[in-house]
Amino acid sequence: MEPNTRPTAYDRAFWEDRYRDDDPSGPAPAPSPAFTALVAELDLTSAPGAGPQPRALELACGRGGDALWLAAQGWHVTAVDIAGAALTALSDRARAAGLGDRVRVERHDLGRTAPGPGPWDLVYANHFHTGQALDRDAALRRAAGSVAAGGVLAVVDHGSSAPWSWEQREDHPTADDLWRSLGLGPGWSALVCERRERIARGPDGRTAPVVDNVVAACRRA
Ligand SMILES: C[S@@+](CC[C@H](N)C(=O)[O-])C[C@H]1O[C@@H](n2cnc3c(N)ncnc32)[C@H](O)[C@@H]1O
Repeated sequence: MEPNTRPTAYDRAFWEDRYRDDDPSGPAPAPSPAFTALVAELDLTSAPGAGPQPRALELACGRGGDALWLAAQGWHVTAVDIAGAALTALSDRARAAGLGDRVRVERHDLGRTAPGPGPWDLVYANHFHTGQALDRDAALRRAAGSVAAGGVLAVVDHGSSAPWSWEQREDHPTADDLWRSLGLGPGWSALVCERRERIARGPDGRTAPVVDNVVAACRRA
């Protein structure tokens, strides 16, 4: 199986290009199975103790399948990405689904600027892999600082390369590496820090086993 052609740069233009032809009237992007399973497991599908309007921040939302799904569960989601094309399509989809008042979008290069101050009841990132020169750890740590007391930080990373992935590597960090990279201090309790296997479907319908590194932590009240 040949992987997709590896791009030469993963800058903003690359990501804009990737999302440019997304037609918001087409089918909604599916949420990440690793993320939806985690939300269910942590019992976050209903509003947590945060009040009637639980607030979530998604980093690097891409087409926004997770943001739309979470908003449909009752959350108010601010979805951030570097690609304006993805955010425009996400806003259109949210409005069409009657979720326009629950999904806000903000364009940020997370290496340079950070989204609104929070605090957020949930901050999450699913496959926030950019390939570009970006201090991702710093961006995640900054975002962790905006989690409300009692709120949750959740990160799902690739722990293996799917056969169709641009980047074929053997040296993926482990879930423990991911946990350490977040630099969470004693004010946090670990909820999940695991390698999880699942069967993924590639762009051409092929399936293959893949690994996710899943980490979640609760900020102590
Ligand atoms: C592998 S995709 C994952 C998208 C989505 N979370 C998902 O699971 O389908 C990585 C995302 O990171 C975004 N991204 C890349 N560099 C970024 C940056 N510096 N700041 C914010 N978002 C960035 C890309 O536009 C892309 O949507």
